[in-house]
Amino acid sequence: MTTNEHTEALKVTDTRTGRIYDIGIVDGAVHATDLRQIKTGNEDFGLLSYDPAFLNTASCRSAITYIDGDRGILRYRGYPIEELAEQCSFLEVAYLLLHGELADKAELEEWTDTIRNHTFIHESIKKFIDGFHPDAHPMGILVSTLAALSTFYPDAKEIFDDDRRKSHIVRLIAKIPTLAAFAHRHAFGLPYAYPDDDLSYPGNFLNMMWKATELKYRPDPALERALDVLLILHADHEQNCSANVMRAVGSAHSDPYSSASAAAAALYGPLHGGANEAVLKMLAGIGTVENVPDHLARVKRGEIRLMGFGHRVYKNFDPRAKIIKRVASEVFEVTGRNPLLDVALELEKRALEDPYFVEHKLYPNVDFYSGIIYQAMGFPVEMFPVLFAIGRMPGWLAQWEEGILDPDQKISRPRQLYVGPEERHLGLAASSRSR
Ligand code: SDX
Repeated sequence: MTTNEHTEALKVTDTRTGRIYDIGIVDGAVHATDLRQIKTGNEDFGLLSYDPAFLNTASCRSAITYIDGDRGILRYRGYPIEELAEQCSFLEVAYLLLHGELADKAELEEWTDTIRNHTFIHESIKKFIDGFHPDAHPMGILVSTLAALSTFYPDAKEIFDDDRRKSHIVRLIAKIPTLAAFAHRHAFGLPYAYPDDDLSYPGNFLNMMWKATELKYRPDPALERALDVLLILHADHEQNCSANVMRAVGSAHSDPYSSASAAAAALYGPLHGGANEAVLKMLAGIGTVENVPDHLARVKRGEIRLMGFGHRVYKNFDPRAKIIKRVASEVFEVTGRNPLLDVALELEKRALEDPYFVEHKLYPNVDFYSGIIYQAMGFPVEMFPVLFAIGRMPGWLAQWEEGILDPDQKISRPRQLYVGPEERHLGLAASSRSR
C-alpha cells in the first residue's frame, strides 16, 4: 500500500541506496508485504520482516477476542470476561464466540438441544481408545481421537458448505467431553459411562467422569457451576499458540477435526495448556510453605521456570486468575481445602513482593490456580490440559471458521532468512564417496 491510499505512513530511508519510502499505516500496523518494495536493485527480493515466535506480528484481523495485556482486559465479542463468568453458561459463551452475539431464549434452547443430541461417539472409537496402554496420557488419547473423528465424517472436508461446517462444529463441542471422559475411564480401567442428556454440559461431563453404580449420577451443583465457569475462562484467548495452529492447519483447508487435533497437540505443551499440570507437580514438589523461598531462589538463578507465572500478553495480571481464585474458595467449601493452596498463596505473595518477578513482569496466569481446583474436584493431574482443551474448543472453532472465511487469508506459508551453506557440489561421484 502506498501513502496516497492512506493519510498515515512511515517515511523510511534505506541508507543502502538513499531512497526514501512511504509505508502506509492501517489499523496501527504496516503491511509486511509493503517492505518488499525496499530493494538494493532489480535482483533483490526485497526486505522481509523477521519476527521469530511472532512477538510483534499480527497474523490476521479478528473480531472474536480482545486482550489488553497492560490493563488486564479480556473480552469475548466485546463482553468482559468478568460479566460472562458471572452471568452466563459455557454453552452461552460458546454460542457467542461462534455467532458473534448472545443467543436469545429460543436460540439457546435449540443450541443446547443440538449439542445434547451429538454427545455420543461411534462405538468403534471405544475400540480405538481401548488400544492405548493404561498409562497413556489422556491428552495423547484426546489428540488422537480428535483426529480419528475426521475418518467418521468424510463430509467434514466440505468446509465451505455452511450447514455441514456448522454441523461438525457442533459435533466437536458436543463430543470432546465424551472423548475426554472416556480417555480417563480407560486409564483407570473403568467401564465407559455414557452421556446423560438430561444433564447440563458440565454436569454431563462430571457424569461421564465419575458415574459408578448409581442409576443416575447427580452432580454437585456447586462443582457443576464451578466447572462451567472454568470452561468459560478457557474458551478463547485470541492468537495464542494453539489458536495459531488451528488457523494455520485450517488455512490448508483441512477439516475441523484434523485442525482441532493439531491445536490440541500444541496445547499439550508445558509452556501452553500443559502448564496447569506442571504447576501442580511444581507445588507438590515444593511441598510446604517453608520450601517456597528456596524454590523462588532457583527460579531467580534461572535454573527453572515458575510454572503458572508469566504471559506473552498479560504484563500486569491475568484477569482469569483473579476469577479462578474466587471459584477456588467456592469449590473448597464442597471438597475441603486443598493443602497445596497454602503453598500457592505463599508463592504468589512472595513472588509479587520480589523485585525480580516484578521487573520481569511475572504474574500468575490462568494456569496457576486452575490445577489446584481441578485436583480438589478429584481430577487426576494428567486430565488438567484435557479440561483446558474442552473449554478452548469453541474458541479454536471460532478462530478456524473466521480464518477460512477471511478474504484476506490464504494458506499459511511464512518466509525465512536462510543461514545455511552456499551452493556446493558433490564433486566425486556419489558411489566413490566414503560413507
Ligand atoms: C497459557 O498465549 C496465550 O494466550 C496462552 C494462554 C491461553 O489462554 O491460550 O494464556 C494459556 O499458555 C498460559 C501460560 C502457561 N504457561 C506457563 O505458565 C509456563 C511458564 N511461563 C512461561 O514459560 C512464559 O511466561 C510464557 C511461555 C507463558 C510466555 O513466555 P514469553 O512471553 O515468550 O516470554 P519469554 O519466554 O521470552 O520470557 C521473557 C523473560 C525471560 O527472561 P530473560 O531471558 O529475558 O532474562 O521472562 C522470563 C524468561 O526467562 N520468564 C520466566 C517465566 N516466564 C518468562 N522466568 C521464570 N518463570 C517464568 N514463568
